[in-house]
Amino acid sequence: MASSDTGAATHFQNPDRNLALELVRATEAAAIRAVPFIGRGDKNGADGAAVNAMRTFLATVEFDGVIVIGEGEKDKAPMLFNGEHVGTGHGPATDIAVDPIDGTSLTAAGRQNAISMIAASDRGSMLDAHTVFYMRKIVTGPEGIGVVDIRKPVGENIRALAKAKGKEVGEMLIGVLDRPRHEQLIADIRAAGAGTRLMLDGDVAGGINSASYEGRLDMCVGTGGSPEGVATACAIKALGGLIQTVLAPKTDEERQKGLDAGLKFDHVYEADELVTSDNTFFVATGVTDGMLVRGVQRKGPIIRTESIVLRAKSGTIRRIAADHLASKWLD
Ligand code: FBP
Repeated sequence: MASSDTGAATHFQNPDRNLALELVRATEAAAIRAVPFIGRGDKNGADGAAVNAMRTFLATVEFDGVIVIGEGEKDKAPMLFNGEHVGTGHGPATDIAVDPIDGTSLTAAGRQNAISMIAASDRGSMLDAHTVFYMRKIVTGPEGIGVVDIRKPVGENIRALAKAKGKEVGEMLIGVLDRPRHEQLIADIRAAGAGTRLMLDGDVAGGINSASYEGRLDMCVGTGGSPEGVATACAIKALGGLIQTVLAPKTDEERQKGLDAGLKFDHVYEADELVTSDNTFFVATGVTDGMLVRGVQRKGPIIRTESIVLRAKSGTIRRIAADHLASKWLD
C-alpha cells in the first residue's frame, strides 16, 4: 500500500482519499449559490456566484492546490484562473481542474444537466491544454477499450462497441453536443442505425454517463471544451472507461499557441496522457437535475444536494446526499 494510503501519515505527498470528501464541500457550495440564478437568464451571475463559493470553500481545504484547468476564458466569465493557488498551501501537492458550473447556459435557462465539478490529481500530472479551447472526444465504458478508435468513422465505432456490449446497433444511444459543427456527425450516427441524445451543453456529464455501468448512454462523441476533456479523463480513470481526444484548434494562431505550449496536434491523447497519474479524483454536485445527479432541492428548512465522488486509486464511486440547513445559507 502506498504511504499516502495508510492514513497514518500527517503530511501527505500526494492527494489522499480524504481530499475528495473535502472537495465535495466546494462543489456543494457552488451549486447552492448558483440556485438563485437558475432560470434567470444571467449566466455570468450564476457563474460568478458559483466561482466565489468554490473559491471560499477551497481556501479552507488542507492542501496545496494549483488550478491547471480553470474556466471562463471563452466568455470572459468570472474565473478561478489557471495558475491560481488554492487551499491552505499545506498538505498534498495537487493539480486541480475546476468548472464551478459546467452548463452555465443551462443554469441561466433553467434547463437540466448543469453540474459543479472539480477534478484533482497529483501535482504535474494534468495536461495543460488551455491554449487550445476545443478537442474532439470519444468516451465509452470499459467495453470500448481496444475496440473503438477516434481515428475510425463513427459508424464503425458504434458497430464495434455494440458487438462488445452484446447489444443491437439499434439499441445504442450516442451523446453529442447539439451544435451546427456536429451536423455531419449526427447524420453519420443515425445512418449507422444508432440513436442520438443531443445535449444542449455539458459534455462532462455526458462522458461520465457513457462510461458508467448504469449510464443511459453508450458513447459520447464530438468536439467540446479541452478543459472539460481533461476533467472527464480524471473521472474516466476511476470508472475504468475509455477516453480519446484530439486537439481541435479553431485558428492558426490558436494552433501556434498550442505548439508553443508543447501540445501535439494530429495526436490521440488517451486517458494516461490527459492525466499521467492514476491518483485522480472527480467530484460533482448537481445544480439542476441531470443524468448524473439531481439538482439542488429546497425542502422546507433544508437544502438538499446530490453529489458523486469518484476515486481512481480505489475505483470507488460514492453518491453523497447532503442536507444543509437553509438558514445557514441566507445572505
Ligand atoms: P460552460 O458552461 O463552462 O460554458 O461549458 C458548457 C459546455 O457545453 C461544455 O460542457 C462543453 O465542453 C463546452 O461548453 C462546449 O463548448 P461550446 O458551447 O462552445 O460548443
